[in-house]
Amino acid sequence: MVLSRRGSGSLTLPTGQTLAIHTRTHDEEDLPHATKKTMADHLRKYETLFTLTPQRMRIIVESFKETLELGLQKPEQIVPMIPTFVFGWPTGQEKGDYLAVDLGGTNLRVCLVTLQGEGKFEISQSKYRLTEEQKQEDGQKLFDFCAQCLKTFVDTSLADGSLSLKSGETLPLGFTFSYPCYQSRIDHGILIRWTKGFGALNTEGHDVAEMFRTSLAKYELPVTLTALINDTTGTLIASHYVNPNAKIAVIFGTGCNAAYMEKVSEITKINDLGIPGDEMMGINCEWGAFDSFEHEHLPRTKYDIIVDETSNKPGEQAFEKLISGRYLGEILRLVICELIDEGVLFLGQNTYKLENPYVFDTAFLSLMESDPTDELLMIIGIFSHFFAVETTLAERQFFRALAKLIGRRAARLSSCGIAAIVGRMGYLDNGERCDVGADGSLYNKYPGFADRVHEGLVDIFGEKGRKIVTHRAEDGSGVGSAIIAAMTKTRKEKCLYDHV
Ligand code: GLC
Repeated sequence: MVLSRRGSGSLTLPTGQTLAIHTRTHDEEDLPHATKKTMADHLRKYETLFTLTPQRMRIIVESFKETLELGLQKPEQIVPMIPTFVFGWPTGQEKGDYLAVDLGGTNLRVCLVTLQGEGKFEISQSKYRLTEEQKQEDGQKLFDFCAQCLKTFVDTSLADGSLSLKSGETLPLGFTFSYPCYQSRIDHGILIRWTKGFGALNTEGHDVAEMFRTSLAKYELPVTLTALINDTTGTLIASHYVNPNAKIAVIFGTGCNAAYMEKVSEITKINDLGIPGDEMMGINCEWGAFDSFEHEHLPRTKYDIIVDETSNKPGEQAFEKLISGRYLGEILRLVICELIDEGVLFLGQNTYKLENPYVFDTAFLSLMESDPTDELLMIIGIFSHFFAVETTLAERQFFRALAKLIGRRAARLSSCGIAAIVGRMGYLDNGERCDVGADGSLYNKYPGFADRVHEGLVDIFGEKGRKIVTHRAEDGSGVGSAIIAAMTKTRKEKCLYDHV
């Protein structure tokens, strides 16, 4: 959309809301706004707080590597390095119809995936919005809702002919459940803890695959839950299905996490399972938990500490809370509130709308950073429309710069995580390139996020860091889940490591 340099216009946000944009030439007259110099002075302070030097990044990478190592050696570590029982890469020849249920954040998604071989597939899907109550109430009720949605989807697909089943036949189902679960087999998983603001009761410490099976049985669904999958593992496999150079997958969304393929001999904590050491297995790192509880390695500001302490899980997901889309808007809001309290911003204006936790969506940071106008009309619109406050150009420039600092720090911390895996696996040792499949709203929608991750990788590795390239990944939670269900079905038919 082209915005006029002056006057009114409108803009549609990713959320579907329409934003009225209004500007005037005399916005600095009536209210006691901060001067340009005051804003510039404050910005310098925040620059110091939110900037990560290459040297600091390299130190973080080293501790990150040690943490990954520890998680592979010992059970129940803070970064749990979860063995996924996904063995090696797909061949690209996986075929057939698979169902996938994806529970991981804002929406519930159900998909029918037809794998056609040669890296090709078709997918049809439905999305259902989850209410805040569903995320917090009883876990079994949540899984019942998932089964109910799947039932509607299967019935519709059978009725319109997009799916056919012989009598007595069941379809393999991949369940993408994007929360940390201890797995001792691929079709089983004990929820370690909810993340991303979920808190459904009677679920932590329970086998979520079994709970979902109970719900599937209740609705008499013709499916077999073949594999319990994390979105990162799905993304890893789906990315490799279409691009064999993909070695790592990262999700930058409501949460942040990564998966990669590890040599079984290195996962010493599962030595007793009798799997040959030279097999490869996907590892769901759950790196969002890096530096949780002890807070020794990451540069947290006082705003990060408030975000943490006021969350439903204080102390946990320390790395994720500095990076993921769920928190970036809130970090920025806290800085703004501090400046309101200090009497620097919005003196004489009613700021109550800005004072509610989590009202400042991370999508606003994206919009602020991508505002193409000199007057920053988009930022005027955000503040006047959603928060009923008037801003001066100096303030808007400050907000945009602040968004940039917070977004950039998130990207650079992500580079540290990627660098730890790359370093550990020696992916750059032979001068080869290392592709990273990436997905999630932050990666896909935040302007410049990928470039900043790449820049961070060069800061860590020097020029050879350019060999690590992130790509927009295939749909891991749908297609990836189906491919894993297919790989697992074949493996079980061959009786290969049948016990896992
Ligand atoms: C959170 C979850 C993790 C998931 C990530 C991205 O970190 O704990 O399982 O992969 O979000 O959705």
